Amino acid sequence: MSRFIDLARKAAARRSRLPDDWNDWRQVDREQGPRPFQVLTVTSNKGGVGKTTVATNLAVYFRALREDLPILLLGLDDQTTIDRMFELGPKTSGETMTSALRARSFTSAVHLGQYGVHYVPSGPDIAELKREISDPFYLQAVLHRTDWHGLIIIDTKSDLEILSQNAIAASDLTIAVVTDHASLTEAKKVFDLLDTWKRPHERARILLSLVDRRIKFRDSESRDVLSLLISEIRRLDYPLFESFLSRSPKVESLQTNPAGRTLSILNAGKGSLVYRQMRHLADDVLNVLDESRSAGGSRGSLVAAASRLLRGDTDEFWGDPLLNAGAAGKVESPAVEHV
Ligand SMILES: Nc1ncnc2c1ncn2[C@@H]1O[C@H](COP(=O)(O)OP(=O)(O)OP(=O)(O)O)[C@@H](O)[C@H]1O
Ligand SMILES: [Mg+2]
Repeated sequence: MSRFIDLARKAAARRSRLPDDWNDWRQVDREQGPRPFQVLTVTSNKGGVGKTTVATNLAVYFRALREDLPILLLGLDDQTTIDRMFELGPKTSGETMTSALRARSFTSAVHLGQYGVHYVPSGPDIAELKREISDPFYLQAVLHRTDWHGLIIIDTKSDLEILSQNAIAASDLTIAVVTDHASLTEAKKVFDLLDTWKRPHERARILLSLVDRRIKFRDSESRDVLSLLISEIRRLDYPLFESFLSRSPKVESLQTNPAGRTLSILNAGKGSLVYRQMRHLADDVLNVLDESRSAGGSRGSLVAAASRLLRGDTDEFWGDPLLNAGAAGKVESPAVEHV
C-alpha cells in the first residue's frame, strides 16, 4: 500500500515537474524558523490598475527611504516592464523568473539594477509554470531557499491563478489595487483567499490607484470616485491604505519617452502630485511591514534600518527637499494635476 502511495506521489510530482522529495522539502520549510526577509505582493485580478507602477516605484522609494534595506523585485508577469526600468546593461546570465522558479532558488538569477534595486529578469514563458505548479506554497519554499536578507516585492499578473496565489501565500502583506467597482469586486477574492488559508484580513490592504477626482457626483452622499470607493470599502470592513494614487499624466509620460526606458516617479516625477503620494504610500507600507514584523508575522533579522535618506551620488537624485523634509503629513489632494 505504501509503495502504491509512493508511486502515486512520484507520478503527481512528475506531472507538476516538482522534485520527488517536494513534500518532504516543504515540511522542512514549514519547520524552518525565522525568515530573514519580508514579502510584499502587489496584486489585482483586473488588468491595468497600476500594479506594476506601484510595485516598481515602491522598490525605488524604499531604497531611498531605507538605505540598509536590500530590495528584491520579482515579476510573475510575462511583460518586461521590470527589465525596462531596472536593467543596467546586457544580461550576465540567461536565468529568468521561469528558470529560477524551476530551479527552486532565485539566488543565481538576481541582478543588481538601477537605483540599487535587485531584480530577476522576467520570464516570457512564465505562464508555463501554471501547468507545472499546483501547490500555493511553492514560492514560499523557494524564497526560503533563496535566503534573501531584506524585502522582496512581487508584482503579479492580472489574475488570481496559481502563481498569484503563490505570491499572496508567501506574503507578509498583499496590496490589493483598486481603481473602480470592478476591481473592488476582484479585491474581495484576495480576502476570500486569506479566509481559505485562515489568515487574518490584515495580511492584505486595499490601495486606491488611478483615482480621477475630476469625476464628481450630483445627488449622492459621495462627492467623487474616491469617497464613493472609500465608503464601499469601509462598509466591507477591509483594511485600506490612507494614502492613494491619483490618475496622473506624469505617470503615463514615464512609460513612453525619448530615453526608451521606464523612468521612476522618484527620479523623473519631481514636483508632481504622484511623486508626493508615492512618498506617503512608501511610508505607510513600511510602517505596516514594521508592525507585522514586531507582531511576529515575519521574524528574524530583517535589517531594521533607520528611516533616513540614502545619500547617493547625485543631488539630482537624492537631494530632494520634499524627501529630506521627512514625513510631511498626508497628501492634500487637488482634483487635477498639471504637468
Ligand atoms: N497613477 C497613474 N496615473 C496615470 N497612469 C497610470 C497610473 N498608474 C499606472 N498608469 C498607467 O496605466 C497603465 C497600466 O499601468 P500598470 O502597467 O502599472 O498596470 P498593471 O495593473 O500592472 O497592468 P497589467 O494588468 O497589464 O499588469 C500604464 O500605461 C501606466 O503608465
Ligand atoms: Mg503589470
